[in-house]
Amino acid sequence: MAKTWLITGTSSGFGKALAQIVAQHDGTNLIAAARKLSDLDYLNAYDQTKIEKVIIDVTNKEQIATAVQQGQTKFGTVDVLVNNAGLGNFGTVEESNEADVRQLFEVNVFGLANVTKAVLPVMRAQKSGLIINVSSVLGITSIPTFGWYSATKFAVEGYSNALRQEVNGLGINVMLAEPSGARTKWNAGKTAPVQIDDYKQFADMINGAASGTTQAPGDPVRIAQLMFDVATGDDPVPAHLPLGEFATNGMKQELTKTLADVDKYHDLSLKADSPA
Ligand SMILES: NC(=O)c1ccc[n+]([C@@H]2O[C@H](COP(=O)([O-])OP(=O)(O)OC[C@H]3O[C@@H](n4cnc5c(N)ncnc54)[C@H](OP(=O)(O)O)[C@@H]3O)[C@@H](O)[C@H]2O)c1
Repeated sequence: MAKTWLITGTSSGFGKALAQIVAQHDGTNLIAAARKLSDLDYLNAYDQTKIEKVIIDVTNKEQIATAVQQGQTKFGTVDVLVNNAGLGNFGTVEESNEADVRQLFEVNVFGLANVTKAVLPVMRAQKSGLIINVSSVLGITSIPTFGWYSATKFAVEGYSNALRQEVNGLGINVMLAEPSGARTKWNAGKTAPVQIDDYKQFADMINGAASGTTQAPGDPVRIAQLMFDVATGDDPVPAHLPLGEFATNGMKQELTKTLADVDKYHDLSLKADSPA
């Protein structure tokens, strides 16, 4: 039976690339979500019997409920949920605008959780499903000027790692996709320019990130294809899927540094517990 994919944020970037792959693949149906249906006109080129276009702003629970219902009415199941919708944000931790940061969490963390909460009852009822949460290499490591963005992706990692353990016994799996920088319009995120002289060394980094990710090595079409291949391949779906050279090496370096601290302070750490 055909597997039905629900993908958020299919107007551009990874989401659009993945939607095109799913739309063309034999044996998959597509519920393509975007904030504006007109952004999904590109899907008119494909077989409409296997596509349902839905409106989802991930911060709007009513829209999410309606969209999931719409998809279920057409296809009966949601087998794969791809929580892809997300915002970028560039600025030092101190200089970032609080309202922008709260909105970032609203979309990248609570929005992802809103969609997941709406789809989980469907997956629990069918006793199967795969949730792919699009995190980032910056959900494992962090770099200057991406602190708040990184904080949202660390939140997605923690949330996903707990959820996986809660639903694994119910036939549901959770995979974290962790791309490095890619050529999408993600750079349209909010920017807090450097104003405090002490941070001037980061000004170019912020301006560069905000002005375009076109130099980023990641190719959204390749990234989408790899996500699809791993999700549909014969091997068990992994908990973490780094995508790109910086993703792989950045994650390795961070985990190695963390392990070095854990090892160095092993004996001291054990002193924190009350004696038996
Ligand atoms: N590009 C990178 O370097 C990179 C690296 C690692 C991870 N990521 C992650 O990959 C995911 C996709 O980003 P992308 O790089 O493909 O960027 P993108 O081209 O900007 O796509 C982002 C998508 O999210 C949607 N979106 C934003 N706010 C939304 C909301 N409130 N409700 C529903 N949809 C919303 C956008 O819709 P609109 O068109 O309506 O704004 C768009 O479809 C994000 O989670 C991002 O954090 C990106």
